[in-house]
Amino acid sequence: MAEINVQEVDMDTIQAVYPLPLPPHFSEKNGILHIGNIPVTKLAEEFGTPLYVTDETRIEALYHEYIHALSSHYPNCRVLYAAKANGNISILRTLAALGAGADVFSAGELMLARDAGIRPEHLLFNGSSKTKEDHQLAVLHGVRVSLDSEDELYQLNRVAEEMGKTVEVSFRVNPAIHVPTHPKIATGLATSKFGIPAEQILSAYQKAHEASHVIPVGIHCHIGSQILELEPFAEEARVLMDIVSKLHDMGIKLKFVDLGGGLGVAYRHGVEQAPSIAAYAQATIPVCKETFKRLGISPEIWIEPGRSLVCDSTILLTRVNSVKHAHKRFINVDAGFHTLLRPAMYDAYQEVVVANRMDMDPNAGEVYSITGPICESGDILAADRRMGAVQAGDLIAVLDTGAYGYAMASQYNGRGRCAELLVKDGAVALIRRRESIEDLLSTMRRPIWQ
Ligand code: LLP
Repeated sequence: MAEINVQEVDMDTIQAVYPLPLPPHFSEKNGILHIGNIPVTKLAEEFGTPLYVTDETRIEALYHEYIHALSSHYPNCRVLYAAKANGNISILRTLAALGAGADVFSAGELMLARDAGIRPEHLLFNGSSKTKEDHQLAVLHGVRVSLDSEDELYQLNRVAEEMGKTVEVSFRVNPAIHVPTHPKIATGLATSKFGIPAEQILSAYQKAHEASHVIPVGIHCHIGSQILELEPFAEEARVLMDIVSKLHDMGIKLKFVDLGGGLGVAYRHGVEQAPSIAAYAQATIPVCKETFKRLGISPEIWIEPGRSLVCDSTILLTRVNSVKHAHKRFINVDAGFHTLLRPAMYDAYQEVVVANRMDMDPNAGEVYSITGPICESGDILAADRRMGAVQAGDLIAVLDTGAYGYAMASQYNGRGRCAELLVKDGAVALIRRRESIEDLLSTMRRPIWQ
């Protein structure tokens, strides 16, 4: 019998900090992970797996942290939650109740945010490829639009004219700066599809100033996502302030300056460090304040955080179907890249724990790859992790899945999307039910010849 060469892995990639540092909404009792004081084993039994579970109090605490950090520098600040990170209306309602606005990137996000109770003047309709219907919706709801090209300016002006209204706009600037993150989520590079180059932006504002049904009142930028350094944000603020000064000289009065989102989180617990929200505010707001003071203006400062507000509030619970010792050791679970795309799409690292046996020291175990049920070799949720002796039936929690988790889920391989729960102070609510086989069929139609 051929000898199986077990374990051909790069040992440098293995992280096993034990016990894993966790944010305050988590605890461990009798070896079981608790979220918001509720044992996750109970949630998995009652609602099934895969299952996203979000602690509302964590999102509230982080929102307050943002408001406190920003307003300690400057009074006119507003947080526009980036709805794309987690578009469940319950999450939007949580943030709406605290006074948040929203960065919306589609008609769907705009309507969800409105339904959640966010006022139109606290929304910004972003996006580089909007349709006439998108523009009509923005004008109808009185929502400001962030324009991504001069072409879009003329199109929106025409729509507003047809509807007999005026619409307030900003332009998105491409600041052409280096952004230290995954190339697929760096948006401030000169080569990115987003925004208007700084050297063309004044002429775009001049054209907007002259347009009949559009009023330029803001400036917008977003350099990318999952950024763990502060200097790019400071640099972005400096580029924007240079433009704000020139716009001031041109007689264009701004009501808001939107710095975008992008502050990253430490996905590798106990290994990576993310800048604090206070440090982010310290790096950006004083740069703006100095220019405002010099010009004698006081526009609102907006920011658009997504990940840093909602990411660590949420876990993805997934059940172990089987364990296999082949050329490597595999843990086959019921969540795959149809449930959580980030590892497959960006080679993203997500922390995993054995949620029903937290007292197992991973360093006393073996190296496993956690793989999903999708028929693609790339369906790996976590590669080469040292874990205790995992068995079929165990419950794995994938941490930090509140941002771009469910939001990027699909029905690939004929699998309905999973359910989502919200927990708060011991209470549990189903905020999205699991999709059934009937749901898969519900949008399909039979051609007349079949
Ligand atoms: N504002 C704009 C205009 C954006 O495009 C984004 C994110 C944000 C704000 C929020 O950025 P955040 O604070 O969340 O970094 N799916 C990727 C991330 C894509 C980000 C897209 N834009 C991931 O899973 O890493």
